[in-house]
Amino acid sequence: AEVVIVPSPADAGALVADEIVRLIAARPDVVLGLATGSTPLPVYEALRPRLAGIDVSRVRGFALDEYVGIDPRHPQSYRSVITTEVVEPLGLDPERIHTPNGDLASIAHAGEDYERAIADAGGIDLQILGIGTSGHIGFNEPGSSFASRTRVKTLIEQTRRDNARFFDTIDEVPMHCITQGLGTILSARHLFLLAFGEGKAAAVAGAVEGPVTSSLPGSAIQLHPHVTVVVDEAAASHLE
Ligand code: F6R
Repeated sequence: AEVVIVPSPADAGALVADEIVRLIAARPDVVLGLATGSTPLPVYEALRPRLAGIDVSRVRGFALDEYVGIDPRHPQSYRSVITTEVVEPLGLDPERIHTPNGDLASIAHAGEDYERAIADAGGIDLQILGIGTSGHIGFNEPGSSFASRTRVKTLIEQTRRDNARFFDTIDEVPMHCITQGLGTILSARHLFLLAFGEGKAAAVAGAVEGPVTSSLPGSAIQLHPHVTVVVDEAAASHLE
């Protein structure tokens, strides 16, 4: 992977946003892979001024993951988060921006449906990734198969604790999620893995330099031919 160390998350956001703007100019119906959580927010913030005056009506997007069994209108469902952080501020067409369907009624085929939708769109051109302290990308926790496609997973305790900050109590954090698989992520044409802060340093070092192992799912990026890792000094601090 190409590793870029930037002074601040805002610089990382600008770097990725510039690439997205270039892609949209080249192909107005570009397919973006969108992450949620804190890490990608500087990208979405940097995109806002850059996309002013640019026609984004054909841009398509697929989120990495969604909680299972959460009401899609719940403010912390990833559908809601993508709507308020990405679709609305950037003026994207909500019909073209997809999240995995975490509704229990259709969960048995939701993974397959999502894979088909991504394939029908021609695949993801640029995938934004954060990384969990467990080394997960998407919600592919340790032990996830490198060949996995979108499916239901159980969130590990550490991830539920990490995400409890978005809810009133940890008990409200759903137990299950539906996430793009490592195989799905590896099928995107260009991966941007972002991480900020000391808390991510061990996961970043494992992903970039450690052995390729499903014990650290982020290490799957080493199997991809086109990866850009964008980190601040603190997140880079355990790299050789
Ligand atoms: C989010 C996702 C997760 C997060 C990771 C880091 O869609 O799939 O892999 O990127 O948990 O979360 P933050 O950025 O909140 O530290």
